[in-house]
Amino acid sequence: MSQEKAPRIITCQLARKEPDKTDYHMQTYEVKYREGMTVLDLMRTVADEIDGSFAFYDHACKRGFCGSCLVKLNGRNSLSCRTLVPGDDNVLVLEPAMPTTKDFWPEDPA
Ligand code: FES
Repeated sequence: MSQEKAPRIITCQLARKEPDKTDYHMQTYEVKYREGMTVLDLMRTVADEIDGSFAFYDHACKRGFCGSCLVKLNGRNSLSCRTLVPGDDNVLVLEPAMPTTKDFWPEDPA
C-alpha cells in the first residue's frame, strides 16, 4: 500500500497594481507545486486557477531570449521563464522589474 505525499504548497507574494494607480501592494497566494515548475508557470497558475484578475505578460519566447518575462524574484532580476521555483520553503516575493500598467503587464509589451 503506497502512501501519497501531500502536495507541496508554495506561498508567494505577488505585487498587484491597479491601472489607475502608481503604487503596488503585495498579495499572498498559495500555489500547488508541480515538478519542474518555473516562476512563469507559477504566475500562470495564479492567473488561471486562483485569481483571474491577476495580469502578466505570457506571449513571448519562453526560451530566455527576449527578456519580456523579467521579474524581481526575492529582490533579484530573474527571467521567469527560465527560473525554477526554488526548492526551499521560503516565501517567494515577486515584483515587476519594469514599469507596468497593471500587476506584471508591461507598459510597452514586446
Ligand atoms: S519569455 Fe522570453 S526570456 Fe522569458
